[in-house]
Amino acid sequence: LFGDTVVVDNIPYQTDHLTNVTPNILAKIGRNLHRTKHHPLYLIRKRIENYFYSHFLNRRGNPLFSVNDSISPVVTLEQNFDSLLVPEDHVSRAPSDSYYINSSYMLRAHTSAHQCELMRSGLDAFLVMGDVYRRDEIDATHYPVFHQVEGVRLFNQHELFQKVRDSTGLNIFEQGGKQTPDKQATHSMETAKLLEHSLKTTLMNLARHLFGQDVKARWVDQYFPFTHPSWELEVHHEGEWLEVLGCGIMKQEILYSAGTGDQVGWAFGLGLERLAMKLYSIPDIRLFWSNDSGFLNQFKDCDPNTNVTYKPVSIYPQCTNDLSFWLPSSADFAFSPNDFYDVVRNEGGDLVEQVFLVDEFVHPKTQRTSHCYRIIYRHMERTLTQEEVNVIHRHIEEQVVKLLGGEIR
Ligand code: PHE
Repeated sequence: LFGDTVVVDNIPYQTDHLTNVTPNILAKIGRNLHRTKHHPLYLIRKRIENYFYSHFLNRRGNPLFSVNDSISPVVTLEQNFDSLLVPEDHVSRAPSDSYYINSSYMLRAHTSAHQCELMRSGLDAFLVMGDVYRRDEIDATHYPVFHQVEGVRLFNQHELFQKVRDSTGLNIFEQGGKQTPDKQATHSMETAKLLEHSLKTTLMNLARHLFGQDVKARWVDQYFPFTHPSWELEVHHEGEWLEVLGCGIMKQEILYSAGTGDQVGWAFGLGLERLAMKLYSIPDIRLFWSNDSGFLNQFKDCDPNTNVTYKPVSIYPQCTNDLSFWLPSSADFAFSPNDFYDVVRNEGGDLVEQVFLVDEFVHPKTQRTSHCYRIIYRHMERTLTQEEVNVIHRHIEEQVVKLLGGEIR
């Protein structure tokens, strides 16, 4: 797709065997929906920011959490993975799951990529808001770019034990301890429990701020390479449990390498699209990228603290086309469905609403595998003609042959 270099954010990068960013993806960099006034993602982001500004003040009465919303999404693999102790063989490192610029740089897959540098710069409490990039399926709730808010809060011994009536003899660290499901090896039980309490009350109050005072919510144990223990917060909304965020006690090793090993801390990360879709009843994730005034004007006079219900502008009809091809048998092409989804996105852009595998078939004699994908096309703002769709569909077929080594059936 590119020559020897690919230009991202005006900076040229040497391409190599890991390069898998696409023009379609690169075109999203700089859109900054989370910084676009009146955009629904901006409204939700403001609402979260307001919660932290109004509930957490330092001794001088200034906001405790600093807000970082303009950090470039281009990060090193070290920032996205190594600095967060993501194991060498973790699934998230697979080229089929992330967008690589080359073997050294990638588009961040989560805002956690900035935890280390911000701690190293001396911050004790901060939020990071930004666009994140993941290779994924194509449907109404998945888009290769979405937005996250990250939160980190660090404590020294004095701050952590401040509210404990008699803290003589307590220590945040413990020597010769073991990791258990409740705590890390170097943390005392008091540290683990006080951090857990601080984290859970902070986030439960955030859930109330977003979903209303009587929101029903629950904690589910989780695993993240960079926190222990870790949890997910689920909120009961319109009859279903919704995963809202991931969080946990930051691994002490990470604070140590960030030069702040005498502190302990917690972190959380949440996705803005999912929240906005639920809070504003937005039915399709592509709408966030639409310039349609029928969509955007509905949020124009909206105050971040009130809910609006999005009213569908209108639903235009779908066009459905199937595409069948033999997967490459040559070892030069290791096929992953996400490669196909990127080809579809490159050619079809936001006209593609959904893609799914409808049939897989292994030829009994040749042992070759064939996939049949159903592609559902729908324009958000007008009716698509079958002829238009056929042109795009044919381009997808051509690219499947050219880029993926497939053979159309
Ligand atoms: N980065 C995690 C994700 O994207 C969320 C997370 C952030 C979890 C911070 C724990 C702590 O899924």
